[in-house]
Amino acid sequence: MAKLGIILPLISSIFLIFTSDVYSATKFTLINQCTYPIWPGLLTALGTSQLPTTGFALQTGESNSISVPTAWSGRLWARTSCSLDSAGKFTCATADCGSGKLECAGSGATPPASLAEFSLKGGGGLDFYDVSLVDGYNVPITVEPKGGRFGNCTTIECATDLNSKCPKELGVVGPSGTIACKSACEAFGDPSYCCSGAFDTPDTCSPSNYSQYFKSWCPQAYSYAYDDVTSTFTCGGASEYIITFCHSSPAR
Ligand SMILES: *[C@@H]1O[C@H](CO)[C@@H](O)[C@H](O)[C@H]1NC(C)=O
Ligand SMILES: *[C@@H]1O[C@H](CO)[C@@H](O)[C@H](O)[C@H]1NC(C)=O
Repeated sequence: MAKLGIILPLISSIFLIFTSDVYSATKFTLINQCTYPIWPGLLTALGTSQLPTTGFALQTGESNSISVPTAWSGRLWARTSCSLDSAGKFTCATADCGSGKLECAGSGATPPASLAEFSLKGGGGLDFYDVSLVDGYNVPITVEPKGGRFGNCTTIECATDLNSKCPKELGVVGPSGTIACKSACEAFGDPSYCCSGAFDTPDTCSPSNYSQYFKSWCPQAYSYAYDDVTSTFTCGGASEYIITFCHSSPAR
């Protein structure tokens, strides 16, 4: 019995060392290159392990790395213009997660919010990742896989300032101008924009002039629900995903 008590942990730790080398868990590094502070929010999809944090502040130039459990799925976004009110309630002008606190509590971003979405397989499988404007846009966002061994592992982004280019009827206006840009679905609720009701299949839901407008500025991002072909990216064995908010703008 005593011998087994020594040998079993020894065998399992050798196994652990081996597997953790082959299938090392990944991490997210979030970087704020915006000229203003942001408060990233993180939401874990049902059925996968939680991240060590669900929300924190990032001042301009700051970054934060968090370890990610194997086979994690979920989304990340940036909240903006957050503050504590006199009653101690934490709220954000864009992409609030409704928790009333710095950390989010199981809810996603209130649209509009630019999203980085992940479905990580780990264990030698293929990770899926994307940038989505399906819930609108608030902050430029870039996703860069590091150390990938197979799959595409492309850096993807919606790095354009779409707030300044937002069609008037979609704009969310704050004290200093447009602070976020709604999707046409959010703004008008029309099933043909939302790919809902009779339009809930890839065959019946087509891009709209609004989704095409977003796509023209951010060709790598989801512009409507069935935009999969040009908006889903894969990477195998990445050791890190760098998510940068307001990555230096492209030249256009
Ligand atoms: C990688 O991406 C390019 C361009 O986005 C695409 O043409 C190609 O089919 C992709 N390859 C794989 C293996 O996903
Ligand atoms: C889309 O079409 C509608 C009417 O069909 C028009 O009012 C609107 O300005 C168009 N939007 C864009 C971004 O082209």
